[in-house]
Amino acid sequence: MFVTEIGTNITTAAQWLKNNQVVAIPTETVYGLAANALNDAAVVKIFETKQRPTFNPLIVHVPTKTDIAQFADINQLAQLCIDIFFPGPLTLLLPKKNSISNLVTAGSSKVAIRMPQHPLLLQLLQQLPFPLVAPSANMFGYVSPTNAQHVYNGLQNKIPYILNGGPSQVGIESTIIEPLPNNTAIIHRVGGLPLETIQQKLSNVTFINAEITTNVQTAGQLKSHYATNTPLLVCHNLQQNLTEHKAKKIACLLFKNTATNMAAQQSFIVAPDGLLTTAAANLFATMQKIDVMGFDIILAEVFPNEGLGVAINDRLQRAQYLHKP
Ligand code: TXA
Ligand code: MG
Repeated sequence: MFVTEIGTNITTAAQWLKNNQVVAIPTETVYGLAANALNDAAVVKIFETKQRPTFNPLIVHVPTKTDIAQFADINQLAQLCIDIFFPGPLTLLLPKKNSISNLVTAGSSKVAIRMPQHPLLLQLLQQLPFPLVAPSANMFGYVSPTNAQHVYNGLQNKIPYILNGGPSQVGIESTIIEPLPNNTAIIHRVGGLPLETIQQKLSNVTFINAEITTNVQTAGQLKSHYATNTPLLVCHNLQQNLTEHKAKKIACLLFKNTATNMAAQQSFIVAPDGLLTTAAANLFATMQKIDVMGFDIILAEVFPNEGLGVAINDRLQRAQYLHKP
């Protein structure tokens, strides 16, 4: 039990982490719940705090590109990904070295690593003699937090400190890919770095979807994830679903201004400017706002399936799964 403090003091955050406590950290994707990646007692506290099953492995966050070699084997394609996309919203799944414990990887021989792009977090990582493991800083299964207040709402009294780095700029979790030696890469999770951007820079690489080629359980890929408490339905025909549910208190989660007959207070537009980057940045905050407003159902429209829209649609699909009959 802690009195949870929210602040911007890197030294305070570092002190708690050096004492093997967990601290919430800002990243450009979503807020993370961090601990010393090289200390199993600290890592265990993350699973306990989030009530996350220990078969669900954690991402290791490093301060520099050159740190990665201490923790994983880097093939040619992996090095290219590091050179081009780090720091940024991309996680690489790589063969792990012995410095990373099986607790971090849930027994897998591969470790997920990323170098985040957030100035405050990079400063913190540079002060620490160890990398940080950090899942999203929400209770297991709930929507990921994109600001310090979200973290506080979910984890108050469970952690000593929330490092406040402002709202997350990207707003959706990192894309996870596994670079293989033969110029192929497996996509394990769509996320904050659009696949088009990756493919454009790596035009001679073949990308394979994880769901087709392996049975490896990537837990962000668990179907009931990112869910609001209010039932959420993804709508291919919003007008029809509005009619079907008209007896209920409905919130509409919309991309941009679309012609519905909804009262203004029931419509929640995530990107008034019509940009998918804006939509991603606002999505989780809007879902969490709606969730405490007493609606019976959230009707979410399908977003354009390109750029960050792919990851947005993925998260909305997973958010509705829990509530399916
Ligand atoms: O943007 C992000 O990636 C955020 C910020 C905080 O960095 N983190 C995040 O962590 O989304 P988490 O734990 O909520 O999601 C990480 C995903 C999980 O689906 C996990 O199963 C997968 O990465 N993962 C981690 N290590 C893995 C491994 N060794 N093998 C397969 N999947 C792994
Ligand atoms: Mg998560």
